[in-house]
Amino acid sequence: MKTFVNLISDTVTKPDNEMIDYMLNAEVGDDVFKEDPTVNKLELMLCGLFGKESALYFPSGTMANQTAIKIHTQPGDQLICDHFSHIFNYEGGGVSFNSGVSCSLIEGDRGRIKAEQVEKKINPSDFYHSPRTSLVSIENTTNKGGGACYDIRELKKINKVCNKYGFPIHLDGARLWNAMVATDSKPSDYGKLFDTISVCFSKGLGAPVGSALICSKNNYEKALRIRKILGGGMRQSGYLAAAAIYGIENNWEKLKEDHRKAKELSKILIKVRGVKYIYPVETNIIIFEFENEDLKNHFIKNMNNSKIKIISMDKQKLRMVTHRDYNEEQHEYVLESLKKLW
Ligand SMILES: Cc1ncc(COP(=O)(O)O)c(C=O)c1O
Repeated sequence: MKTFVNLISDTVTKPDNEMIDYMLNAEVGDDVFKEDPTVNKLELMLCGLFGKESALYFPSGTMANQTAIKIHTQPGDQLICDHFSHIFNYEGGGVSFNSGVSCSLIEGDRGRIKAEQVEKKINPSDFYHSPRTSLVSIENTTNKGGGACYDIRELKKINKVCNKYGFPIHLDGARLWNAMVATDSKPSDYGKLFDTISVCFSKGLGAPVGSALICSKNNYEKALRIRKILGGGMRQSGYLAAAAIYGIENNWEKLKEDHRKAKELSKILIKVRGVKYIYPVETNIIIFEFENEDLKNHFIKNMNNSKIKIISMDKQKLRMVTHRDYNEEQHEYVLESLKKLW
């Protein structure tokens, strides 16, 4: 291989020529005045797909999640999420920085929590010594959980618990596109169950930047103000929103290919010397664990010598992520390189 094969994340993709052409031809305006026709088109398209009243374009998934948390909570409140959640682990402490909120953590199954676990974590509303529970946040697929997908039936149960106690439910759907392809579900299935949904265009769909928050009209008005406060109001962002439209229309279905490659990699990886365990591969993320750190470091060195980039997770764990720019030739090359380590 002349250049490195990059498997550290599905965020490493670059727009292809067709996407760039589509972006260049976008009609644009000033989105802070809501006068960008392409951003408006993307937002309308998302409303239609998810069956929600409103959608708002964001520069990043982090900003969309943080905005949702700010909408639903007051300082001093507590939200419930899995201990693997991106909002808890990888958003720079934004939950407390932006919203003054703490997290009550559940040790779920590869990042997935259950309705009965949620119910046990709710603080009684009249017990003023404890933080007020005001939000549940779900991640689908789970990043740190190796791309695991929720069963829609469990999401319905969690939604019921939230309704019973009268608080909202947010979905971090950075890779919801992958979950929908893997579980044969559709956006409106999720639109019905969640008050706010964030989706990313810069992961599997191959856009260079961009996310959106999909919600009610009332929450949209609040999100617009919070996005402004966070500095996320952009001007001629239609050039970027065009990439998202192109990605949804052309690249969504192709995620199946990323999922197939991830499964094929896992079948070979399990035989590599020192690999103790691989999380079941459901989508495009493979998380695997070595018997000890020496074996893990030895593997990283081997991969580096073969010009294959992967990322380290905690302790003995490593992660590989397949994506649009990981082509068949590279895939064959990685499979062969791994076989040499049997
Ligand atoms: C599950 C999940 N949520 C949110 C994000 C944040 O997205 P961004 O990097 O666009 O801020 C990521 C990024 O990897 C993620 O994996």
